Amino acid sequence: MYATSSTNTTAGAPHFPDSFLWGVATASHQVEGGNANNDIWFLENLHDTFFHEPSLDAIDHYHRFAEDIDLIASLGLNTYRFSLEWSRIEPVEGHFSLAAIAHYRRMLESCKSHNLTTVVTLHHFTSPLWLLRQGGWESSNTPALFARYCTFVMEQLGDLIDWACTLNEPNLPWLLAEMGLVEKSPDQRKHNPAFVEAARQFDLLPTQIAPFQFTATREGFDIKVEAHRKARQAIKAVCPDTPVGWTLANSDIQAAEGGEERARHMRAEVNERFLEVSRDDDFVGIQTYGRHLMGAEGPAIVPEGASTTATGEEIYPEGLEATIRQAAEIARVPVLVTENGLATDDDAQRVDYIRRALLGVRRCLNDGIDVRGWICWSAFDNFEWIFGYGPRYGVISVDRSTFERSVNPSGYLIGQISRTNGGALTESA
Ligand code: BGC
Repeated sequence: MYATSSTNTTAGAPHFPDSFLWGVATASHQVEGGNANNDIWFLENLHDTFFHEPSLDAIDHYHRFAEDIDLIASLGLNTYRFSLEWSRIEPVEGHFSLAAIAHYRRMLESCKSHNLTTVVTLHHFTSPLWLLRQGGWESSNTPALFARYCTFVMEQLGDLIDWACTLNEPNLPWLLAEMGLVEKSPDQRKHNPAFVEAARQFDLLPTQIAPFQFTATREGFDIKVEAHRKARQAIKAVCPDTPVGWTLANSDIQAAEGGEERARHMRAEVNERFLEVSRDDDFVGIQTYGRHLMGAEGPAIVPEGASTTATGEEIYPEGLEATIRQAAEIARVPVLVTENGLATDDDAQRVDYIRRALLGVRRCLNDGIDVRGWICWSAFDNFEWIFGYGPRYGVISVDRSTFERSVNPSGYLIGQISRTNGGALTESA
């Protein structure tokens, strides 16, 4: 815990700890472009796909990373979180690409040359297509295969990785399942035309199609927990001092009238059992966008008159404070906010959202909760999974016909907050 006495204060307003991480995040498939060898690309391009559009070039971060990292650093941030693409590093099972490793080494070196702390995610939703073919995230072989990839990555790049995140949002499918968006049993996949088509192509049954992002079964839970534990062991064996954790989708799940029992069940299923796994880790990554209200009849109640995000959810920045408190209490390890942000076409809304969310982070610190940093989702507008390029999360906008980047006021704001280590964060807008 940070003692209150070790935090700087100006005019009675406590600042953030000196080592606080201020950053932005991306994920390989959402920004790199051309990730044609992974399972999500495959699903995007099925005839019966449930993706709005294919990712194609994304924002060409794969070729433009040097300018992008320059831009991130120029804002005044001290941290960049990004993910490594397993399907590039191990394009064929058991065979590793030295060219892909050299690429990620250049990225990491570029961060280091700008004094950026590197927070690296080893798996952010996408897996090599060969893994999906052999049962994906319900196959008992997957944990060991993932751990082998982690060993290789750490041997090759570990000297430049400051924080290692194993799996990104392993719990997201259970949140989606509670909203009725993901099948809870393998049997229900028979009714998903995309899974039927995928199975036909692989000569499998639809029940055997288990991509990470859409697997919310009992088997899926066990496999993900085992993969995380094996990966942590593998990372620690190579780099014992690197902090390791996984990053969780932690919505603030609340009860509306009559929804107490549903909310309690959903918190246990989606948040708490995953936070308990983090007890053996060095930190837990918290990713909060807002809240989910559970009513007597079911989920997804947006209160009347509430402003909504580009994806139709309530704008609720206060959720972050609640989930940090919940995570610290259950996981009992330091908390790193690895994602927090807003999908909107109106950057003024994002500015307000960020300010209110950060005031909540500061209240947590003032109460002695060990929060190590805040990383905004996202550095750039990018490929928002099934929604395609519609929703924009970037503090830096991207024109996808020219790939031109332009910094939004929210980007300058978080840079300013970072440079002053929270000093530029005001109570009122
Ligand atoms: C994921 C990101 C995603 C973001 C916004 C998180 O679920 O980690 O990949 O883009 O939320 O939806």
